[in-house]
Amino acid sequence: MNVIEVSGLTVRYSGATALEGVDLVVGEGELVALIGPNGAGKSTLVKALSGLIRPAAGQITVNGRLAQVPEGREMFGDLTVDDNLRLGGWRNGRHGRGTGAIYPLLPELTGLRRRRAGTLSGGQQQMVAIGRALMARPDVLVVDELSLGLAPLVVADLVGHLRTLNADRGLAVLLIEQNARLALGLCHRAYVLEAGRIALRGDADELARDPRVAAAYLGGHVTTDGPAR
Ligand SMILES: Nc1ncnc2c1ncn2[C@@H]1O[C@H](COP(=O)(O)OP(=O)(O)OP(=O)(O)O)[C@@H](O)[C@H]1O
Ligand SMILES: [Mg+2]
Repeated sequence: MNVIEVSGLTVRYSGATALEGVDLVVGEGELVALIGPNGAGKSTLVKALSGLIRPAAGQITVNGRLAQVPEGREMFGDLTVDDNLRLGGWRNGRHGRGTGAIYPLLPELTGLRRRRAGTLSGGQQQMVAIGRALMARPDVLVVDELSLGLAPLVVADLVGHLRTLNADRGLAVLLIEQNARLALGLCHRAYVLEAGRIALRGDADELARDPRVAAAYLGGHVTTDGPAR
């Protein structure tokens, strides 16, 4: 079964087309990457999946619960980490749910639970944003720009958590990432979005070897096991 099925999705902003005829699926327990340059429409797709914008055409089906980690994290900086997590439950229609289940999943947050979120590092805030999304007990997590502005070691830690959530709990992930090497290294399958259309799709391994992907997204040369940059 697919947790996300998108077909023929077209989104326009006051006449300008941001997405045109996009087809995309995420299977149960699957890790899927969506890569593409700035302005390609990646965040627009995330917003359409979350119901924040209304498509001009096409269909979106979500089987199960979807939660998103929005681009830029959107912390409530004056509230504590724990209150930010609680708001995740509220935002996702799970008002009143305790935050206790989140800390074992993301142990780094335990010592931070009473800190104001605005005082956290970028990596710690991204961890809170993931925890907040997990409050919905999602079947699929949509992460918009996991690595944005974060140091490689911090990103590796976050990726480790996503891998574990996928392996242990069957959480499906749609990962939107500027760092194509990272995304293709983590995910089973990938889509390349360019100017609002799916330009390429396939197994992540195949796409990583595709000269068009290498030229545009992997710094022009193909490596299969190099360090993430
Ligand atoms: N609210 C809006 N009103 C008008 N145009 C918009 C709006 N939001 C996005 N756009 C335009 O739609 C296109 C796609 O934007 P989007 O944010 O989806 O791209 P993106 O792939 O997420 O880019 P980035 O990698 O920079 O985050 C861009 O041309 C953008 O300027
Ligand atoms: Mg974006």
